[in-house]
Amino acid sequence: MKIRAGIEALAIAIPRRYVDLEDLARARGVDPAKWTVGLGAREMAVAEPGEDTVALAAEAARRALTAASLDPRELGMVVVGTETGVDHSKPVASFVHGLLDLPRTMRVFDTQHACYGGTAGLMAAVEWIASGAGAGKAALVVCSDIARYGCGTAGEPTQGAGAVAMIVREDPSLVELDVGISGAASTHVHDFWRPLGQREARVDGHYSVQCYLDAVSTAYRGWRQRALVRELVRGDIPSEGLARICYHVPFCKMARKAHLQVRRTDLEDAHTPWDASSEELRAAASFETQVAPSLPLCSRIGNIYTGSLYLGLAGLLDAQAGALANQRIGLFSYGSGCTSEFFSGVVSPRAAGRIAAAHIRDQLGVRERISVEEYERIMGLTAPLGQPPPLGGFRFAGVEDHRRQYARG
Ligand code: CAA
Repeated sequence: MKIRAGIEALAIAIPRRYVDLEDLARARGVDPAKWTVGLGAREMAVAEPGEDTVALAAEAARRALTAASLDPRELGMVVVGTETGVDHSKPVASFVHGLLDLPRTMRVFDTQHACYGGTAGLMAAVEWIASGAGAGKAALVVCSDIARYGCGTAGEPTQGAGAVAMIVREDPSLVELDVGISGAASTHVHDFWRPLGQREARVDGHYSVQCYLDAVSTAYRGWRQRALVRELVRGDIPSEGLARICYHVPFCKMARKAHLQVRRTDLEDAHTPWDASSEELRAAASFETQVAPSLPLCSRIGNIYTGSLYLGLAGLLDAQAGALANQRIGLFSYGSGCTSEFFSGVVSPRAAGRIAAAHIRDQLGVRERISVEEYERIMGLTAPLGQPPPLGGFRFAGVEDHRRQYARG
């Protein structure tokens, strides 16, 4: 018998502070419209050292377990996707497992491939459940990162920080994934990377955009081929058969570029000439319906690397879960270096109630707007500020005898 598997519940954790990108643009001598319109970014989360990858991951995971009303004894796997871990050996998942006092009898590990790491974890969990290997157990999948390029760099307005945690189980209440219906694309490129020992990423910015666009075409084609065979979508423009598409969002304008690329791929493959003026207008209209509803959280938090795609999904479900009941959505995950995957799933009729239990917007409401000077001071800190998060939660408290210590706020 086929086991249906997917996302049962989803929750986020974000830093308590943010900087307004118009303030930051003025301080850098940049026209604010370049970042707010040109990149589509409004605000950027600023993590202090106490809000590290572990603290954010543990808090998101705690919230996801509560939103799912799941007894931790039902878990059989904890996996954290991250590219900004805190130790070369001990995984973030191990800290999360300990901080949440989860049962011993489970698999606990991290997955890494730049921003794709969380999707690697999600796929491992979903396929583990769908294969029957999970034997009825659920999985906790967390994506957690601190995105840093450094003050004054071109990447500066595309930083951010945060975590998204998902409970994955049979007969899920949020999104049932189309297991096995996906397309992957990978190439060995140096578009974005972070050498060992460095806090800030290296990036070849415009090249990274091109690598992402090449990847989305190939991955989308792979998904489309399988989806057409299974008759999940039809017609010359199969992407129109998806009610919404969530893309990896390093900055919101990238989702617009990706969507244009997917439309262009459909038309090229249908041998329909791409008439720039009319097709771009049509693609822009479909962007407003199919993609824009997934962007509100991303534009206010920034890039959270592994979690960015799922922050888009969280924002979409928070706003439209009821209207999307029983409808198929597409998801595109991109990890620099690079690997990527286009996949899909169907929103559950129970999704609206389940996402409401995660109280996602409450976290934005209690954030503190800080000045550019305070943001720059925090970027330079190496020791935690010691303040508890406004809604409770975990924080890094310092290192004792080479062991990282965490406290609950
Ligand atoms: N008003 C309105 N728009 C303006 C403007 C103004 N005054 N001035 C410029 N713009 C527009 C530009 O036309 C451009 O739009 P288009 O791309 O649609 O042409 C946009 O603003 C950005 O302008 P630039 O390209 O000149 O900006 P930049 O060179 O300073 O930096 C960037 C842009 C390369 C994306 C840089 O922010 C960066 O390096 N970011 C980090 C890398 C990144 O996010 N890459 C994405 C793909 S890789 C990935 O996805 C993995 C990951 O998470 C990192």
